[in-house]
Amino acid sequence: MTAGATGEWRGWRAAARAALYGPDGFYRRPEGPAGHFRTSVHASVLFARAVARLLCRLDEALGRPAPLGFVDMAAGRGELVTGVLAALPAEVAARARGYAVEVAGPPEGLDDRIEWLPEPPRGVTGLLFANEWLDNVPLEVAEVDAEGVPRRVLVRADGTERLGEPVSGPGARWLDRWWPLPAEEGLRAEIGLDRDTAWAAAVATLDRGLAVAVDYAHTVATRPLFGTLTGFREGRETAPVPDGSRDITAHVALDACALPGARLLSQRDALRRLGLAGARPPLALASTDPAAYVRALASAGEAAELTAPGGLGDFGWLLQPVGIPDPLTLLEAG
Ligand SMILES: C[S@@+](CC[C@H](N)C(=O)[O-])C[C@H]1O[C@@H](n2cnc3c(N)ncnc32)[C@H](O)[C@@H]1O
Repeated sequence: MTAGATGEWRGWRAAARAALYGPDGFYRRPEGPAGHFRTSVHASVLFARAVARLLCRLDEALGRPAPLGFVDMAAGRGELVTGVLAALPAEVAARARGYAVEVAGPPEGLDDRIEWLPEPPRGVTGLLFANEWLDNVPLEVAEVDAEGVPRRVLVRADGTERLGEPVSGPGARWLDRWWPLPAEEGLRAEIGLDRDTAWAAAVATLDRGLAVAVDYAHTVATRPLFGTLTGFREGRETAPVPDGSRDITAHVALDACALPGARLLSQRDALRRLGLAGARPPLALASTDPAAYVRALASAGEAAELTAPGGLGDFGWLLQPVGIPDPLTLLEAG
């Protein structure tokens, strides 16, 4: 983005969209998301294995369809779909079809069983899994002015902000319902309407199965007073400057995204139900089989990271069934 563009005032939605997904946007860069931050997918192969277990349980519930779809929504460099396909038992893998849905292009050497698409395929029977997608769906930000009125926040490409017009229409209704702002100057909210719409559209592409959104989240009882909009670059949290040099992200109001039948739980709870234990191996193993002990210890460390309080374990999992019974039963099987 050029310095000349800094003068233009835009809402955060348009500014973040250009900064992340425009021709020179952050997510078009060759290093991909893994070059700047670590998601659960990068943290450990145990995550893909747990998702593969969920896919297998769903496969049973769906009556072993052929093909069985796995859609990695907002796939980054396709790391999750690659790991899930690799973790499936041969009989399931033979029927599985993997899709990576991503704004950016495919990486070199992608497994040729994976189809790379700009939009989710329609009519899939199977699992659509969106890890850290919705936090990157751009949204408008509101801030309460001196008279107690929530106004749209406008921003320039250098990150300078000012207040625009009062929030009205669907945005105002969304705030009233999901993130009511007391009339105190400076309080802020992120208007999740576009995320609700994006999630509903992704869910609608499934014919039958389960859609899962995983993200750092808050619910109506825990909304932060000043919002969560922030930036990430090269592993560090930075100011959210919409100039294409960094990620722009905000926590997700997952309760607002939920459609009828949905379940919301923490990643810690979801992964434990999927068999991720995180217990240290018995010390006796160190003398009988030192190599196995070291492997088990590393694995326990990774499981602990994926389920850590104050970290990845606090992420929300939104389970959205499509034509199947309560999805919690899938997490309780086995
Ligand atoms: C935070 S990264 C997560 C990548 C991966 N899911 C993971 O967990 O490692 C977000 C990704 O979502 C992609 N993305 C955002 N909006 C998208 C959309 N509407 N369709 C496809 N990909 C999208 C971005 O390009 C980026 O690669």
